[in-house]
Amino acid sequence: TVVVADTGDIDSIRRLRPEDATTNPSLILKAASDPAYADILTRGIDAARALPPSQRLTAAIEAVSVGFGVEILKHIPGLVSTEVDARLSFDIAGTLAQARRLIARYRDAGVPRERVLVKIASTWEGIQAARVLEQEGIACNLTLLFSFAQAQAAAEADATLISPFVGRILDWYKAKTGQDYTPETDPGVVSVRSIYEYYKAVGHRTVVMGASFRNTGEIRALAGCDKLTIGPALLDALAGESAPLTPVLDATRITPAAALPALTEA
Ligand code: E4P
Repeated sequence: TVVVADTGDIDSIRRLRPEDATTNPSLILKAASDPAYADILTRGIDAARALPPSQRLTAAIEAVSVGFGVEILKHIPGLVSTEVDARLSFDIAGTLAQARRLIARYRDAGVPRERVLVKIASTWEGIQAARVLEQEGIACNLTLLFSFAQAQAAAEADATLISPFVGRILDWYKAKTGQDYTPETDPGVVSVRSIYEYYKAVGHRTVVMGASFRNTGEIRALAGCDKLTIGPALLDALAGESAPLTPVLDATRITPAAALPALTEA
């Protein structure tokens, strides 16, 4: 399993030494509010000044998000995910335009597109945009993924990576049923396992990166998954536990027949 840090906090990334990192607008907002990173914020705002007023706010947000991404990449060997504005989640043209601008900003900062995943909501429109971007050589992380159907559509669009949200699925089930769940019965864990098995059974190239974790039990129950993106607090909690992270998922043990139950349950 590739360990990914789910944070915009550069100090945590420096300390935790993950392979990749994922950011989102709330993580960038949190990091950009930290006086320690005031320079990145100021540079982002300055970059937007030359544009007409109607474009400045969007440009500043894009520049700050990329500014953090560029800085994060100095401390990790792998990829950084930068998210498209959630208000564009149902807008194919808007998503395409912003994804291309983000990649252009990375290029201007000397970062090749191979090191960036553009994070896009797994709405129908988001998935259509990802299909186009992948054909252009822009790799996508389809996020906010809560169902098998979204995962199937994302793989068919040839997305580079999906982020199924374990904890948000759990939150929803807990609120609805009032029940408690163990890592084995956790509906978020169950969902990611069936997506993983289905992908491996049919040979999809799309990487499965479990996201949105609520406890270390969920992480342990998905060990062996292609990637797991985990916030600094849970990475610290894992490091404090004595048990090693032992793989539970194993692609080599999955046969094409494993795709059938996953499809039936969907
Ligand atoms: C991952 O890509 C997301 O940034 C993150 O895991 C969301 O987690 P949350 O449900 O705790 O917001």
